Parts: sequence; C-alpha cells; structure tokens
Amino acid sequence: MTAPKVQDITPKALFFNRRRFLQATGLLAVAPPLSALASNFPFQPAEGEARKLKLTDKEHVLSYNNFYELGTDKSDPLRNANRLKTDNWQVEVLGECAKPRLFDMDDLLALQQEERVYRFRCVEGWSMVVPWIGFPLKALLDKVEPTSKAKYVEFVSLLDRKNLPGQRFDILDWPYREGLRMDEAMHPLTLMATGLYGEPLANQNGAPIRLVVPWKYGFKSAKSIVQIRLTDQQPTSSWMQATPSEYGFYSNVNPQVPHPRWSQARERPLGSLLKQKTLMFNGYAEEVADLYRGMDLKKFY
Ligand code: MTE
Repeated sequence: MTAPKVQDITPKALFFNRRRFLQATGLLAVAPPLSALASNFPFQPAEGEARKLKLTDKEHVLSYNNFYELGTDKSDPLRNANRLKTDNWQVEVLGECAKPRLFDMDDLLALQQEERVYRFRCVEGWSMVVPWIGFPLKALLDKVEPTSKAKYVEFVSLLDRKNLPGQRFDILDWPYREGLRMDEAMHPLTLMATGLYGEPLANQNGAPIRLVVPWKYGFKSAKSIVQIRLTDQQPTSSWMQATPSEYGFYSNVNPQVPHPRWSQARERPLGSLLKQKTLMFNGYAEEVADLYRGMDLKKFY
C-alpha cells in the first residue's frame, strides 16, 4: 500500500479548524504562501537571523513525524492523521494558580500573534527549520495567575483510546506527558504553536495546539495538548517513565552528552543527505544558557 500524499488528506475537521484559524488571523479569503507574508499580516512575521535560516521543505515537515498516538513509524502520523479528533477542543489550565480555567480554541487563537522560524532537533538525530505560528506560553500562563508554589508545568496530550491507534498498545504510559521548569515555561522562546507555514497545524504535527521548545530535544514539544498543570513538584514525563536512563527531565540539545545508544554530535536536516554539527542548546545558547548556570548538564540531561 502506498502512503497517501499530504495534499490528499484534508479531513473535515481540519477544514473547519482552518476556517476558524484564518478568521482569527483575519485571513479568511486566502492563506498566503510564506513568501507572500506582508507587513500587514496579522501576526508578526519572523525577523532578522531567523529569516535567514533555510526552511525545511513543508512536505517533509508534514510527512516525517513522531506522534506515537498515531503509530510508531515516521509515515504513520500522516497516514492515520484523520484518527485524531480535534472538534470542540479545550485546554484546561489548572493547579498552582489563582484563576484555573478552561480555554476553547477561540480563546487560544485570540492570543495568536506571531510567526517564529525555529530550528527543531529530534533526539533521534534529524532536524528541521520551521516557521511556526502561535503565542508565547507565558501569555497563556499569565492569564491564570500562577501562585508562588508553581515551580513546574506539566503538559498532557489527548487520551482517546477509541480513536488513536497507538493508544491501543502500551508503547508509552498514555496520555503523553511532558514538563518544564517554570522559568523555562515562561521563557520568551517557549511557544504554544497553532500553525506552521501560514496554516493551522496539520493533525500529524499535533493539531490543534502543541508546545515548541526549540532548545530542547523534540520530544519535549508535546502535541495535541488538552491539559496544562502548574505544580510544585517536578513532573515525570512519559519518556522519563519509560526509559529513565535515556531521557531525563531537562533534555536540552547538547552535542557533548551522547544518548546512551548513539552520539548527539551531528544531525541530518530533513531533506538533506549530509549531516551537520549540532549546536549547544540547538543554537539558542545566547538566549537560554543563563537558565542552567551552575548546573552540571551531564547529570541533568
Ligand atoms: N507529542 C505527543 N503527544 N506524542 C508524541 O509521540 N513525539 C515527540 C514530539 N511530541 C510526540 C509528541 C517527538 S519524539 C518529536 S521529535 C516531535 O513531537 C516531532 O514533531 P513533528 O512530527 O511535528 O516534527
């Protein structure tokens, strides 16, 4: 069986999601290609250095994925994309905060404000450069007024054993869970993404809303998030629980700390045959190294 082409998959849910997304960004008539992003675009197009990064072909970003709820093969998430049901999506933000709240997608799309071109690196050694659309996680967390006890943030992805084929197997302890320290979560680089390449997120990329933490390995960027919990304890992510010797809480991109089964010194950009050197913090050292001042990053991997 041949895998369907990206352009063949336009589930109804994606269409409606797309309509709302475009309404929120004032783009109902047409979604311009990235090259057409103009100064009157309702969210801020990425500027400066970020613009100079060579973007990965959209086809690769939409068809080579990790999303274990939709299968473990890189081609499974696209093939099974319509098994993810995104209608009436809500994100519950709760825990150590003064104003816990349920947000629906209209609330979240109203926060959407900018495009960011980020490097993204998977722990398995491939990388990509993607123009994401979304808003800083901080904008959402500020709305619920975290208390002084909020030291960590836990992200919980959708649990839907009936529809998500991967959740019929105990590959991970479902639902998928990830976590950040509060200062990492509030860092201006930490993005809640609702779209990429000027369009709403495709299901295989974690529709309708996912995290993107560009200086950490890709698995920290939880997809299809339904709950965000502020806690006083460090959360245990699904990957830490599955293989603690391989996946720690921090998971910063660090070419000097090999994965127990392979080196992390180099990476292969999707679409390229050649590998390139991996940069400390995935190239974001200037912005984030201060968060880890004084920490032994070999111990806190
Ligand atoms: N989120 C959920 N819910 N389930 C997953 O299996 N995989 C992670 C991350 N987020 C995953 C997830 C991993 S390992 C990577 S590398 C990125 O998603 C891949 O994102 P992409 O497919 O959009 O490139």
